[in-house]
Amino acid sequence: MNPTPLNEEIVLDPKRYIVSETDKKGKITFCNDYFIEVCGYSKEELIGKPHSIIRHPDMPKVVFKLLWETISQGKNINAVVKNLAKDGRYYWIFTEFESRRDTDTGEIIGYHAARKSISKHVIEIIAGLYAELLEIEKMEDIVASEKYLVNFLKDKGDDIEFANIMEEIHRFY
Ligand SMILES: Cc1cc2nc3c(=O)[nH]c(=O)nc-3n(C[C@H](O)[C@H](O)[C@H](O)COP(=O)(O)O)c2cc1C
Repeated sequence: MNPTPLNEEIVLDPKRYIVSETDKKGKITFCNDYFIEVCGYSKEELIGKPHSIIRHPDMPKVVFKLLWETISQGKNINAVVKNLAKDGRYYWIFTEFESRRDTDTGEIIGYHAARKSISKHVIEIIAGLYAELLEIEKMEDIVASEKYLVNFLKDKGDDIEFANIMEEIHRFY
């Protein structure tokens, strides 16, 4: 069971990356020291667990839907994510997701994520957008929240690809 979220933010070191790797299903196969330090779980508690162990309830479902749709096709994607630490505190990060491939066959064998801290300004904008998406998911469904997200991006420009959504948000503000 995840802990009850506390309304307290973990201040991140802007110079350090929080890194993890998963298998094809999203089970954690590797995490670096800073990952462990920030989330508060031990390596033993993390390895082999689904990555959703640090999922924060403020995250809308549609973000993970688009994440999985993109990386499972072998495309990279960036996303702003709010995570939940073991003690219930939270931290916002900008995450670069990539697929890991078998060097011989080229087949996807898992995924890699490298995360860095982001500015307060971007957090405020994304937190507002995510709150709206979450509300839509509660009142309606994920189809409606995806539609909202696509329209939000259409307002920003014509040729924005779904896979680049977060990068575009980052760039526009
Ligand atoms: C490499 C990789 C890293 C991930 N990192 C996170 C993360 O930091 N936080 C998170 O909530 N989900 C992360 N996910 C997504 C989870 O696998 C999962 O889709 C998400 O937590 C939503 O959980 P649910 O699908 O059980 O609702 C990651 C997935 C992959 C492939």
